[in-house]
Amino acid sequence: MSAPLATLDDDRTYEEIYSQGIIVDPAPHLEHSVRIKNVKKSFGSFDVLTGLNLNFVDDAITTVLGPSGTGKSVLLKHIVGLLEPDSGVVEVFGNDIWHISEKERQEIRKRFGVLFQDGALFGSMNIFDNVAFPLRKHTKKRESEIREIVMGHLDEVGLTRAVSKYPGEVSGGMKKRAGFARALVLNPSVVMFDEPDSGLDPVRTSLLNDLILKMHAEHGGTYVLVTHDIRTARKVSDYVGVVWQGKLIHYGETEEAFNSDMPFVRQFLSGDSVGPLGMD
Ligand SMILES: Nc1ncnc2c1ncn2[C@@H]1O[C@H](COP(=O)(O)OP(=O)(O)O)[C@@H](O)[C@H]1O
Ligand SMILES: [Mg+2]
Repeated sequence: MSAPLATLDDDRTYEEIYSQGIIVDPAPHLEHSVRIKNVKKSFGSFDVLTGLNLNFVDDAITTVLGPSGTGKSVLLKHIVGLLEPDSGVVEVFGNDIWHISEKERQEIRKRFGVLFQDGALFGSMNIFDNVAFPLRKHTKKRESEIREIVMGHLDEVGLTRAVSKYPGEVSGGMKKRAGFARALVLNPSVVMFDEPDSGLDPVRTSLLNDLILKMHAEHGGTYVLVTHDIRTARKVSDYVGVVWQGKLIHYGETEEAFNSDMPFVRQFLSGDSVGPLGMD
């Protein structure tokens, strides 16, 4: 059974929305390459996603906001096909990704770029080789061509002087920028970011956010960003979805989320200690 369709002027009570979640599509007239339909996922007796519905708008930047431990990373792993839902559908480019072959799933994965929390670089490869890795693995391009593409991307993220450094020799911000360059190197249609702001100071966070906006403006693509950082969400997003207890409870244009009067959304976006969100 799927959740009832909610519109932006939903007249259900907050309690109903919290318990059932919503399907709000902030831009139903636009394309959606990634759709999450009533996805449930538990680990043992612990229910993480409890009926999540979320369509991502193509060529926009959508942020999924939620407290730590709400299942944001678990959601991204479902989109890239690393985790299989217990029920529900993960639809990518029109395919239910768990009703196709592993080979087809792998083909779809090549159209994704993912920036994991720590950049997930290979410690034994320098920055250049890390960024070149997807090209060497998935294409038959000549080394001269690879060099040109890699250097182009490293230039865009401001790392041309760090090409021969190893991940252990550069700062957290540089690792993230290298991870970003690597995520973009195959010209992905969908780029996902897992807490790009984690472990960065406010200035570096702000610089990375500028970079996300610049790269999106230059290369386009559907950007899906998960974070608990409210400032990041406000700065980079076209749309904001708020997840709580494994469900989507608000979804709309960024300003709208920040003007929401739903108690949880208000509390979370203002960082207030008073409200439905407690310590547990
Ligand atoms: N592979 C796994 N096995 C068991 N529990 C997991 C697994 N992956 C995530 N979890 C649990 O699911 C919950 C949500 O995790 P996660 O998606 O990482 O949260 P966050 O929103 O902070 O990214 C956490 O309580 C985490 O411990
Ligand atoms: Mg996480």
